[in-house]
Amino acid sequence: MRTVTRHQIRTIVNGEPTSVEVEANDVLLDMLRTALGVKSPKIGCERGDCGSCTVLLDGRTVRSCLVLAVEADAHEITTVEGIEHDGLTAVQEMMIEQSSFQCGFCAPGIVLAAAELIERAPRPTADEVREAIAGNLCRCTGYESIVDAVLAATGSGTSATTSATSSGASS
Ligand code: FES
Ligand code: FES
Repeated sequence: MRTVTRHQIRTIVNGEPTSVEVEANDVLLDMLRTALGVKSPKIGCERGDCGSCTVLLDGRTVRSCLVLAVEADAHEITTVEGIEHDGLTAVQEMMIEQSSFQCGFCAPGIVLAAAELIERAPRPTADEVREAIAGNLCRCTGYESIVDAVLAATGSGTSATTSATSSGASS
């Protein structure tokens, strides 16, 4: 009979100290969704291609379908639920105002990718935003409304104005 070894994992999930038992080959995505009921990381390709399962691990974006749950032991995990202090962030508000998404499946991952970017570059350029979300597949939009929302929320203008500025064009 196969013996399954279970491991006790202690993490901080969205600011809350959390203890959960996992198997050695459980991935972080399953731990969050199934064991802890944190549903914003989405199950997409499950092989690192789509970015829908993106979470922050110690403040850096990772694909939670590629990270073993045991690797998160003693680390801090943040999902979209954890960045919403007292309501939506400025980027989320602007994404709603600009109707940046359609089905919204990609939204949690893209919001976290943008949050990581803004943490290190508070007024990003359009190219920096595009690069930050490049690993997050959106099947519904052309990305520009997402880029524009991040730029508007950070006071960086729009993709049109920052492209004009970076190319030296004047209005
Ligand atoms: S589900 Fe993880 S990258 Fe697609
Ligand atoms: S809005 Fe549908 S996948 Fe991005």
